[in-house]
Amino acid sequence: MSEILNQIPGPLLQWYDSRARVLPWRSQPTPYRVWVSEIMLQQTRVEAALPYFDRFMAVLPDIAALAQAPETQLLKLWEGLGYYSRVRNLQKAARQVMEQWGGMLPQKLEDLMALPGIGEYSAGAIASIAYGQRVPAVDGNVLRVVSRLLASRENVMDPKVKRQLRQQVWDIIPAQRPGDFNQSLMELGALVCLPNGKPLCSGCPLENLCLGNRLAIAQELPVKPPKKARRVVPRTVFVLCSQGRLLLHRRPSRGLLASLWEFPGQDGHLSLEQAAETLAQAGIQVSSIASLGEHTHIFSHVEWPMVCYQVECLPFPAAEDYVWCTPQQLQEQYALPSAFRPFAQWLRLTP
Ligand code: ADE
Repeated sequence: MSEILNQIPGPLLQWYDSRARVLPWRSQPTPYRVWVSEIMLQQTRVEAALPYFDRFMAVLPDIAALAQAPETQLLKLWEGLGYYSRVRNLQKAARQVMEQWGGMLPQKLEDLMALPGIGEYSAGAIASIAYGQRVPAVDGNVLRVVSRLLASRENVMDPKVKRQLRQQVWDIIPAQRPGDFNQSLMELGALVCLPNGKPLCSGCPLENLCLGNRLAIAQELPVKPPKKARRVVPRTVFVLCSQGRLLLHRRPSRGLLASLWEFPGQDGHLSLEQAAETLAQAGIQVSSIASLGEHTHIFSHVEWPMVCYQVECLPFPAAEDYVWCTPQQLQEQYALPSAFRPFAQWLRLTP
């Protein structure tokens, strides 16, 4: 057992008791609430997730409600959070829990990990926070904190290194407060042992125990291999308006933003003239076309620099996977991913 890590539970829990943020899944840590919060927090910061969490709980207060929710409602509740497979898996898992576990999330790590979308980290978080089990929940925050405490220069993306660090955390989890301990490590990572820029070591309860701090290398840790550059895919987007309605396209069921709604578009950047020509060739009768602006959206592995044209046209029947919708329907019903939100906001509709 690590002599350094061995000493952290006391001061860390004491710090957590006075400094931890009051969060809705902490105040009422039911298995369902902890589960949903952990899935939201996988790719989203706490402050950004908070309003989504409250709304999700108000609309879908339990696993049975989640299992039965229509997909449109589910996607609308997740609109803007990104990584939409997370919410689809959440529902798949809820349905499995209804059938297989009588509507109660299981307690064992293996049973939790057998559910769609629940990996080792989420299973550990649910088991420790909601069920009080002595198991670890090691996410990126925790890996950063621990590698700095140990001044470890090993690559934390390497599964073998990750497994060792997780085991070292497991060894020191206090039996009385496993959930709070796991959250205190995450919380320290989020509030003090910051990822980009200088960690706030002078405000850290583990300052004197931390080898990374003593060797003045905390900021360089953890060591990660360089990220691959994102693929850049220029796009042209059309906001087609006709008689106060907008044309939306449902994306293919596989790949990026699968089955979500978008403004129609195509790869490549078209000039205004080229855009007008493309629409004419598609048989669309354009009465006006103007640039609506440019926006670049960054996904985890791809980047879309988009140019957008707002087009007024004569009405035409929506083909399969297309729909004409009112601005109100767009707001209330159709989930439009963040990539396209700026265009919806810039839009000026003439009645
Ligand atoms: N990130 C993921 N889960 C968290 C939690 N329970 N508290 C704070 N940050 C988190």
